[in-house]
Amino acid sequence: MRMKLAIGSDHAGYRLKTEILEFLKEMGHEVLDFGTHSEDSVDYPDFALKVAESVRDGESELGVLVCGTGLGMAIAANKVPGIRAVTCTDTFSAHMAREHNDANVLCLGARVTGGGLARDIVKAWLEARFQGGRHERRLAKITDIERMYLKDRR
Ligand code: RB5
Repeated sequence: MRMKLAIGSDHAGYRLKTEILEFLKEMGHEVLDFGTHSEDSVDYPDFALKVAESVRDGESELGVLVCGTGLGMAIAANKVPGIRAVTCTDTFSAHMAREHNDANVLCLGARVTGGGLARDIVKAWLEARFQGGRHERRLAKITDIERMYLKDRR
């Protein structure tokens, strides 16, 4: 199924982002590239915010973020209400992240995961489907936690 996706990286993730961007296009998806566009040093939260807001606002269905470890991107993206960002280094976690957690942003670590595995992780995540049921109730509880601490700006 063709989807509209958002992608972003910092300098450490730039090369892998470029590879994943091409891979997503080859899979037939439309991809919005929020940068960065070189290996010049930048700050990952700036790009996490752009991709997370694109997903939250419904401009993109899902987002992919790449930094050195995939960790800082996930921490930053998860500050945006409605974002469920996960860092994956294996395909099992990648498909479970959608099946149980309905993760809407996937974070990859370019210094951790090679291009071949990263593609497999992206494919496993994109092709999985949220299973709903009991998992809906648990996600609703995560949203409740957000509401307890954040003033919704929508
Ligand atoms: C940049 O050196 C590095 O800290 C960043 O890419 C990322 O790994 C942070 O989590």
